[in-house]
Amino acid sequence: MVKVGVIGLGAWGWNVARNFAGLKDCELVACSDTDPKRLAAAKKAWPQINPVSSLDEMLAKFPEIQAVVISAPAIAHYPLAKQALLAGKDVFVEKPFTLSVRDAEELTAIGEKNGRIIMVGHLLEYHPVVRRLKNMIQANELGEVYYIYTQRVNLGRIRGDENALWSFAPHDISQVLYMLEMEPIDVSVRGQSFIQEGIEDVVFLSLYFENRIMAHIHLSWLDPHKVRKTTIVGSNKMVVFDDTEASEKLRVYNNHAEVPSVRSYGDSIQVRFGDILIPRVDMSEPLTLETQHFIDCVRTRTTPLSDAQDGLRVVRILEAAQKSMEQDGVPVRIQGGKSDKLPSSVFADRRWHALRA
Ligand SMILES: NC(=O)c1ccc[n+]([C@@H]2O[C@H](COP(=O)([O-])OP(=O)(O)OC[C@H]3O[C@@H](n4cnc5c(N)ncnc54)[C@H](O)[C@@H]3O)[C@@H](O)[C@H]2O)c1
Repeated sequence: MVKVGVIGLGAWGWNVARNFAGLKDCELVACSDTDPKRLAAAKKAWPQINPVSSLDEMLAKFPEIQAVVISAPAIAHYPLAKQALLAGKDVFVEKPFTLSVRDAEELTAIGEKNGRIIMVGHLLEYHPVVRRLKNMIQANELGEVYYIYTQRVNLGRIRGDENALWSFAPHDISQVLYMLEMEPIDVSVRGQSFIQEGIEDVVFLSLYFENRIMAHIHLSWLDPHKVRKTTIVGSNKMVVFDDTEASEKLRVYNNHAEVPSVRSYGDSIQVRFGDILIPRVDMSEPLTLETQHFIDCVRTRTTPLSDAQDGLRVVRILEAAQKSMEQDGVPVRIQGGKSDKLPSSVFADRRWHALRA
């Protein structure tokens, strides 16, 4: 039995705690929230748990806890994770890992030095459909990947402590990196704050990868429709993953454009329309798979799929994305752990040459 303590029992943290409480090889020993009402509700839901008011109290009273799960607001991730790691605990941190590359690097180093497991809550990496998409891409089923776009929009909870970029993009960025097994060259973002000054509600983010692959991410909590969609266009096939569908979440379109190898004057490019397939994907709740993976990693001392390095990669892109958004969409390069501004003229040149290569 892995003994776990959960910090933060808000809208999402509650689901996280519910999952850890339900795993066979895990014991939810203690929960903490700064709001006593949340703690009282948790005690009612899981009578076996010990409510505590802080991580300090949790560490002092329950030294048998092996792993600390942090689902408090993003601003609290770094200090709580650092304290738990230094106390010798393994740590699960919700996304975003931290709010800066510096903090993410420090936590990663502490984890490595002390042999602690760090896992970041990149939920979509545990989604059965995303795993299927990754397999399809890596097995070259779609052909050459041309571009990906994701939409994460609805009229939803408008947060006051973080913008739509930091709140939503960790999902889409981690998903794209996981599927492609690549890191982008640069990121360009435009966003706008309509409701609260300085907190962007709507964000359009573009990642540019090697081999001309593009990924475009649309995020908003100000939209009439709830959309959770990923579209991938390849040279052989196109796929659409719609996470709002109850069962038929994945559609594969056997459609593509056919360019003749020798093209003489007057030949047109053929567009082929094939069958549309709905593959069967065995579904389990991604959060259950994710929490079970953390417990397995703690038990067997294996590196999680969404480990600290994965969290760091995503924070690196988020930080560069924030920089780009503050400069009205100027592409910001993502390079070896530090991002620096790439002048637009260089960007334009590079793309021009790439297109003609
Ligand atoms: N993986 C996902 O799909 C997903 C979805 C939503 C949110 N999240 C992440 O989960 C985390 C929590 O999100 P939420 O929607 O539950 O937020 P929330 O605002 O609903 O709840 C946060 C809770 O943490 C408590 N809290 C604040 N500071 C604390 C501290 N220092 N110690 C203990 N408790 C503290 C608050 O009282 C509140 O109950 C965030 O990091 C968020 O980004 C992940």
